[in-house]
Amino acid sequence: MEMIPMTKKPEKKGIDFVTQTLTAPLSPHEAALRPLSFADFAGQAKTVERLKVMVGAAKRRGEALNHILFSGPPGLGKTTLAFILGQELGRNVRVTSGPVVEKPGDLAGLLTNLEEGDILFIDEIHRIPKTVEEYLYSAMEDYRLDIMIDQGPNARSVRLDLKKFTLVGATTRAGLLTAPLRSRFTLNTRLDYYERGILEGIVRRSCRLLQVDLDDGGAHEIATRARGTPRIANNLVNFCRDFASEKAQGKITQPVAAAALELLEIDQAGLDEMDKRVLRLMAENYAGGPVGLGTIAIAVGEEADTLEEVHEPFLIQEGYLARTAQGRVLTAKGYHAVGLKAATGDQQSLL
Ligand SMILES: Nc1ncnc2c1ncn2[C@@H]1O[C@H](COP(=O)(O)OP(=O)(O)OP(=O)(O)O)[C@@H](O)[C@H]1O
Ligand SMILES: [Mg+2]
Repeated sequence: MEMIPMTKKPEKKGIDFVTQTLTAPLSPHEAALRPLSFADFAGQAKTVERLKVMVGAAKRRGEALNHILFSGPPGLGKTTLAFILGQELGRNVRVTSGPVVEKPGDLAGLLTNLEEGDILFIDEIHRIPKTVEEYLYSAMEDYRLDIMIDQGPNARSVRLDLKKFTLVGATTRAGLLTAPLRSRFTLNTRLDYYERGILEGIVRRSCRLLQVDLDDGGAHEIATRARGTPRIANNLVNFCRDFASEKAQGKITQPVAAAALELLEIDQAGLDEMDKRVLRLMAENYAGGPVGLGTIAIAVGEEADTLEEVHEPFLIQEGYLARTAQGRVLTAKGYHAVGLKAATGDQQSLL
């Protein structure tokens, strides 16, 4: 498997190979903990089953894998799965990101450098410019690109034939993808938050790899507070590991994990400061809502996009918030999470 360096290279114009990506470089611990095969990848049973079917069939036929779109909140394993596909197929994975592919020429540069069966992974694919997106259609469908060169009277179209490649797209905002693009993916699969039991397994695996001593209570405590998200679970493992080595002879037990996470202000249910700020704001200033997302964003000092991609999906899934046509509404559980009681009234009786 070959990875394009994840650093921003000096910009090249025209149809040169675009290797820049806006994705932050993997921190060493993230790289060390990232599963490299289906066997190592816990959870997401339905998605994994679908991928195995597609990988098996592609290998049997000796053809390129069909195009795949992963959607879901950050940190659930979209990038990880793209690399696992490359590993399982024995193919290269080239990585780029939607906003980096600015011009049709950038896309041409990427696509003409692919070998038969290679995977092009486009992260944040919903942020690809419209002018570029249209070229993706024929590339995905017919493996060709008709690129216009020159302008005015000299303008002419050049056809580039491409090797049969696989596009793997990832997005935290599937709703922002246009229908024509979405429909060109054979598989459109959504990753869900992980159940506690599965996260416990991920926490155990990470501690094994990091050679950290952990008991059942410690694994349970970390998994409970990880917001259903493996990336958060791994971050908590790393913090608990430091905490344990500074304050508790190196072993992560339940009380050690609880004290460490208290220090991080992550509560029993995994809610962080921003989550609670949102809930508190809605309870205290808006009588539980309905409130528009934009209003909440300004009041808590966070980008509306971040609230919508990172915080809200978890709050809604866990039943702290509900989304209505009029705006966001706090539930009784949401009030409870910030130590308040639900206001009685029409709005609340609806929930
Ligand atoms: N199923 C899993 N089993 C074990 N570890 C996992 C699993 N899924 C993800 N991880 C861990 O979580 C980290 C984050 O996953 P990944 O980078 O694939 O998320 P992502 O969905 O691409 O997030 P983003 O939307 O922010 O790009 C990985 O480095 C990996 O260590
Ligand atoms: Mg990713």
